[in-house]
Amino acid sequence: MQKLVIEGGKRLRGEVVLQGSKNSSLPIMAGAILTGGECVLENCPILTDIYSASRILNNLGCRCSFSGNTAVIDSSGANCCEIPEKLMREMRSSIMFMGAMLGRMGECTVSIPGGCELGSRPIDMHLSAMKKMGADIREENGRIICKMTSGKPRGAKISLPFPSVGATENIILCAVLAEGETVINNSAREPEIEDLCRFLQKCGAEIKGAGESRIVIRGREKLHGCEYRIMPDRIACATYLSMAVSAGGEIILKNCCIPETEPFLSVLEQTGCSLYAKNDNIYLRSSLRPKAVRDRIRTMPHPGFPTDAQAVLMAVLACADGTSVFEENIFDCRYRHADELVKMGADIQVMGKIAVVKGVERLHGANVEATDLRGGASLVCGALSAEGTTVIEGLNHIDRGYEKIERAVGLLGGNIKRV
Ligand code: UD1
Repeated sequence: MQKLVIEGGKRLRGEVVLQGSKNSSLPIMAGAILTGGECVLENCPILTDIYSASRILNNLGCRCSFSGNTAVIDSSGANCCEIPEKLMREMRSSIMFMGAMLGRMGECTVSIPGGCELGSRPIDMHLSAMKKMGADIREENGRIICKMTSGKPRGAKISLPFPSVGATENIILCAVLAEGETVINNSAREPEIEDLCRFLQKCGAEIKGAGESRIVIRGREKLHGCEYRIMPDRIACATYLSMAVSAGGEIILKNCCIPETEPFLSVLEQTGCSLYAKNDNIYLRSSLRPKAVRDRIRTMPHPGFPTDAQAVLMAVLACADGTSVFEENIFDCRYRHADELVKMGADIQVMGKIAVVKGVERLHGANVEATDLRGGASLVCGALSAEGTTVIEGLNHIDRGYEKIERAVGLLGGNIKRV
């Protein structure tokens, strides 16, 4: 089992080019199925989740290959509409292939996806939307068998009870080749949904309202392949900035998506760091101990504070001057990193969806374990500011979402190695 070994207490100084977005790449890779042609995806991060998606594509009869950060997906040979349970369990986003397969083939067999380390993550909204679009869905021995009763999806009016990112993406994927018009009310507005829509539009899809809470999709007969550049990863951006505030120092992050990262940046700035953005670059300087954030940090759907950045900001505030309070409103089990930060000397009390973080002078090195992706990143963040050596296990979680994290942190001046 690999581990990260981090010597903390060193100020960061350096620059790094940000990776492409994991959460955009995954639904876009599923979307490539709908084109029946060749899609060239640039700025695709090399991650275990991306390899899982490529295994699913290959299993469905598509050809998916990588050359550096460019993925080439040829879906002309797609001939299978079943994803084996083992592949489904590798990651939650495997469910995204349901909408794409129903759009292209009119049927699919999947199972409950994996990635449930954030508490229960049901797929009821996905299933009821597919039913509204004409799917007959039954469960057999844990497998979910879906078939469009009239052979292909038909447009529908769908009102989501909550703006689920995954459900919104699945409906869009299913609707672009549907018969007629689909309207999604209360759709999620995350930037990655806009990225998916830009990709599908480039493939010939007709979509209006991406990034708004009402999306209208007019189904087309056919789509075609295209070349597309994946947007930068706003959560990796939040992570590396948090590391620099936590450890102190001066860093430059290149190739960021600044407006999309704004809900995080506006909170991070309250810790007293200086942020300066020019073109697609963010310059951050942090010379003093971070200040606590006065207002409660409530995770909310975009454009609220992102739940995916809650853990890394918590690592920063663990050493802040004063007390900060988090309210996690998206997932019911998203504070597992708090216990690990406590092993490093943090003072964090969790009560249901609330976490009270009393800033301590300094964290200290410890042996800790990543239990989920962003929680794992928060441990790296805490370790960089801590006195002494931290050993982090559970790298399989971190590798799902951060491309060569030890290289990026090393370029930023951190003392880190993978052993
Ligand atoms: C996506 C992101 C994830 C991020 C999350 C919220 C990807 C690959 N993952 O996950 O990084 O943390 O958005 O911004 O893009 N829910 C239901 N029923 C459903 C669907 C969702 O109850 O059918 C609930 C979930 O359990 C959760 C909430 O809705 O409590 C939000 O989930 P959702 O927005 O769907 O997140 P994901 O798409 O899974």
